[in-house]
Amino acid sequence: MVTVDHEHEKQAAAEAAANLVTDGMLVGLGTGSTVAYLLAALGRRNLAISCVATSPATEALATRHGLRIQPFEEIDHLDLAVDGADQVDPRCWLIKGGGGAHTRERIVAAAAYRFVVIVSSNKLVERLQAPVPLELLAFGLDSTLAALSGAVLRSAPRTPDGGVLADLHGDVSDPDQLSARLNATPGVVGHGLFPPTMVSMVLIGRGGEVESRQPVA
Ligand code: 5RP
Repeated sequence: MVTVDHEHEKQAAAEAAANLVTDGMLVGLGTGSTVAYLLAALGRRNLAISCVATSPATEALATRHGLRIQPFEEIDHLDLAVDGADQVDPRCWLIKGGGGAHTRERIVAAAAYRFVVIVSSNKLVERLQAPVPLELLAFGLDSTLAALSGAVLRSAPRTPDGGVLADLHGDVSDPDQLSARLNATPGVVGHGLFPPTMVSMVLIGRGGEVESRQPVA
């Protein structure tokens, strides 16, 4: 039986993304175990860059690797954002938010001229599968949950922005429609469905190689 080393695949994809970064860039840093390899690779490159972080965990690790983190309050655009994903479908719809950072991750991805996604090959799926991570406002929480059949609160601390994490179970066969419904539901601060229109490229570690996939909008 052939065993696939997904950690090695994550590292290969992350290192390929790190090679896209050049001196002077403003870089958005995602969250998760794949991004951890990116932070190490960027630290080793010793570039003159500034970064914004999508979570306190990323900020702490990036700082340990010698990366300069700025608050994301007075920056209107980033040159590049790099992040992992939980699932990538053939069109490059993504499910993100396994680490609960999807609201900040979406803001950072949307602010970037290029949003590059880094994954191991086991993240590729033919069809997206529930659950879809949610971040909900605590105010009116039970009424928001009542409007979202299939939403289950996650046993996790509040987000750094005070949001409550939950996961939406149910049909994800039409991500466009589900995404529009979630965007229109009062009390939903963020969700983990990211459309192909946000994605510039997906870098996929597969065996010893790195493949790229372009979004189909
Ligand atoms: C965090 C995310 C992560 O990017 C996603 O969960 C993938 O994580 P990992 O790289 O650890 O597999 O969306 O909110």
